[in-house]
Amino acid sequence: MHQMTLRLMMAVGIAVMGSLQFGYNTGVINAPQQVIEAFYNETWLGRHNEPIPANSLTSLWSLSVAIFSVGGMIGSFSVGLFVNRFGRRNSMLMANIFALIASALMGFSKMASSFEMLIIGRFVIGLYCGLTTGFVPMYVGEIAPTSLRGALGTLHQLGVVVGILIAQIFGLEPIMGNASLWPLLLGCIFIPSLIQCAALPFCPESPRFLLINRNEEDKAKSVLKKLRGTTDVSSDLQEMKEESRQMMGEKKVTILELFRSPLYRQPIFIAIVLQLSQQLSGINAVFYYSTMIFQKAQVPQPVYATIGAGIVNTAFTVVSLFVVERAGRRTLHLIGLAGMAGCAILMTIALALLERINGMSYLSIVAIFGFVAFFEIGPGPIPWFIVAELFSQGPRPAAIAVAGLSNWTANFIVGMGFQYVEKLCGPYVFVIFTVLLVIFFIFTFFKVPETKGRTFDEIASGFRQGGENRPNKQSSPEEFCSLGADSQV
Ligand SMILES: *[C@@H]1O[C@H](CO)[C@@H](O)[C@H](O)[C@H]1NC(C)=O
Repeated sequence: MHQMTLRLMMAVGIAVMGSLQFGYNTGVINAPQQVIEAFYNETWLGRHNEPIPANSLTSLWSLSVAIFSVGGMIGSFSVGLFVNRFGRRNSMLMANIFALIASALMGFSKMASSFEMLIIGRFVIGLYCGLTTGFVPMYVGEIAPTSLRGALGTLHQLGVVVGILIAQIFGLEPIMGNASLWPLLLGCIFIPSLIQCAALPFCPESPRFLLINRNEEDKAKSVLKKLRGTTDVSSDLQEMKEESRQMMGEKKVTILELFRSPLYRQPIFIAIVLQLSQQLSGINAVFYYSTMIFQKAQVPQPVYATIGAGIVNTAFTVVSLFVVERAGRRTLHLIGLAGMAGCAILMTIALALLERINGMSYLSIVAIFGFVAFFEIGPGPIPWFIVAELFSQGPRPAAIAVAGLSNWTANFIVGMGFQYVEKLCGPYVFVIFTVLLVIFFIFTFFKVPETKGRTFDEIASGFRQGGENRPNKQSSPEEFCSLGADSQV
C-alpha cells in the first residue's frame, strides 16, 4: 500500500491547474456576453460609422464562443506529437506558451479595439485546452501509484468543473463581468499559467516515460523513490516493465485501420456516437449560454442562476466520482440521458408557458439544474470510460484520438449553432436536444454493451456474436480504476 507523499501531492496539484484552465475558459464567456457584445458593437461603430447589424453580432459572438473548440480539436489531436518526444512534464510546461499568448491577445483586445484579437485568443486558448486535457490525465495517471490512480485521476474532472464555477463567479458584474474589467476576466489566465511555469520544473518527469520511452531506468528509479517516499520501488518498476511488455506484444493500430478492420468497426462507431451523445445533449449550450437562456426565461438574476448551475455541476461531479467506478457504465449513461431528456422537456414547458403562467422562470431554473446534474451522472464521465474500456492497448491511442475529434467537433457545432437555432425555434429550442437525447437513449439501449468488469476479449467476442447486451459477470470494482484518468467534458 502506498502513501500519499508531499511530492506527489505537489506534482498533482500543479498539473491539475491545467484542468482548472480548461474549465475556466469553457465557462468564462457565459456571464459577460452582453458587455463584450457591447464592445463588438462599439468597435464596429468606430470602424463603419454604423451600429453592428444584429446578424453580424450573432455570428461574431458565436464564433468567439465556438472557435475555442476548433483549437481544442487541433490540440487534442496533437497530444501524441508532444508527450512521447518531450515528455509529459515538459509538454505541460511548453503548452503554457499558448496560454500566455492567448492571455495577451484577449486581455489587450479592448485596448486595441479589435475583436479579431479576442477571437484568435479564443482559438489559441482552445489549442492549449485540447493539449492539456490530454497531458494532465496522462501525467497524473503515470506518477500516481496504482492504489491511488483512480482517486487522483478524478482530480482532473474536479479541476474542470471547479474552473467553470470560478469563471462564473469572476464573471459577476461587481467582480469582473463589467465593461471595464472584462479584458482582465479573459486575460487573467496568465496567472495560473505563470505559477505552473514556475513550479513545473520542480515536479518530476513521469517515471513511466523515463523508463518506457527513454529507457532510463536509473532516472526512473530515483524519481519513483522521491514520489513514493521509500527506497524500495521494485514493485512499481516491475509493474511498468510488465505493462511495457504487453504494449510491445500488441501492434499499434492506426486510425485508418480502426475503420477498416471489422474487429474495430463496431466499437469505434459506438465510441463516436457516445461522444456525440455527450456534446449534442446540449450541455455546452448551458455552459456557454446559460445566462442568456435564463434571461429569456425572465429569471430575475440570470447570472446567479448560472452560478447555481455551476455549483450543481460541481456537487454532482463529486457524487458521480463515488458512483461511476462501482455502477454499470451503460446503466448510468441511460439514466443520465433519460433524466436530461426529461429536464429538456421541463425547460421547453417553462419557456413556452412563460407569458401565461407565473413562476415559470423558476421552473426553468429547476430544469437547467436537473439537466446539469443528470449530465454529470451519465453523459459527462461515461463516454470516456467506455472508449477506454472498449479498446485494448494497441488500438486505444487511435480510438481516443478519434473520440476526442468527434467530441470537439460536436462541441463546436453546439457552440456555433445554438444562438441561430434559438432565434429560429424560440422556446422550442430544447425540443431539439430532447429528440437527440431520445435517439441516443435508444442507441445506447440497443447497441452499447456493458463494459464494467469485462475484459477486452469478452467485449470483443460479444461484438462478434452480436450478443452485446448479455448480463455481465461481476468482478472487482477496482479492476478498471486506472481508466478513470481519461479526460472529460
Ligand atoms: C449597438 O449600439 C447602438 C447604440 O450605440 C444600439 O442602438 C444598437 O441597438 C446596438 N446594436 C446591437 C445589435 O446591439
